[in-house]
Amino acid sequence: MPGTKTMTPSPQPAGDDAATTEFRLHVVRGLKQSPKHIPSRFLYDAEGDRLFQKIMACGDYYPTRAEDEIMRMQADEVIQALAGDHRQFSLFELGAGDGAKTKHLLRRAMATGRDPMYRPIDISEHVLEVLRHGLAKELPGLRFQAEQGEYFQVVQRGLDGDGPKAVLFLGSNIGNMLRQQAVLLLKSIASHMGPDDRLLVGFDRKKDPAVILRAYNDRDGFTREFNLNLLRRINRELGADFNVDAFIHAPSYDPVEGRALSFLVSTCDQTVHVPGMMQPVHFKAWEALHTEISQKYDQSMIEELAAGASLRITEQFSDSLNHFLDVVFAVR
Ligand code: AVJ
Repeated sequence: MPGTKTMTPSPQPAGDDAATTEFRLHVVRGLKQSPKHIPSRFLYDAEGDRLFQKIMACGDYYPTRAEDEIMRMQADEVIQALAGDHRQFSLFELGAGDGAKTKHLLRRAMATGRDPMYRPIDISEHVLEVLRHGLAKELPGLRFQAEQGEYFQVVQRGLDGDGPKAVLFLGSNIGNMLRQQAVLLLKSIASHMGPDDRLLVGFDRKKDPAVILRAYNDRDGFTREFNLNLLRRINRELGADFNVDAFIHAPSYDPVEGRALSFLVSTCDQTVHVPGMMQPVHFKAWEALHTEISQKYDQSMIEELAAGASLRITEQFSDSLNHFLDVVFAVR
């Protein structure tokens, strides 16, 4: 019987560090919204990172494979589109992760006599540490300077490097943003670009809705666990009492808008207590908590984004199945 537990509501339970305070604030705010929604960046704690690696490696999640194929098969053309005839250039990467796709580019750039300076940016210090070790082994001699931070903030601080710069924003990470936010980020990047600089953005394309839905509901169950982990994380870090077994993972895809949305749906009437919330949170049976947007694009949507950020398209690269598109932009 839920709701029998007594809790002292306090706006900011003692013992929260800065990150936990941030997390609690967004959870409290998001659970009061209608529909309930928690920003997707909170999916990525250590366990979320681990599950996301599983997602990327699984058969049903096609975007990683598609973009990897582009970077592997068209590395020379991509490098040419990014750096032109410059031997030295700075290669920034927003949300570098394991850098697996970028390593194809770096390997080919060095093999063809170029001297790139790799500047990965990631929110996770752990991720950057792993990357640092991998690159020292796999690409000795590569110039490398990592920066920990939220990429929006890092970009706002400026992207200074010597020589022309190229900025990578891969993996359809842009798809996690609403259109307005995406334009803001592109504008901010563009404001640091000169005429020789380039931005490459990876877009997941509109395609058979069944293929898209499978990618967000893989048969191995990694995506389900990835989403449910958000509730487990709230219990772990914020001391809430979500009954995780009473939620199901239910993604949707709207082919008009090109929007894949992920939801956790409550299978029954239930009440959840989150320390820091004055009122318990009520879920009606089949009420949804929205966790993530994964926008899919067609050519006209990409052109509109570019126009909104005063960028022009210089090249684009597709995989053999036409699932994914890496688009190179320059300032107008
Ligand atoms: C990392 C944001 C591109 O939306 O496809 C994958 C995250 N979520 N499966 C995506 C994700 C569930 C992914 N991005």
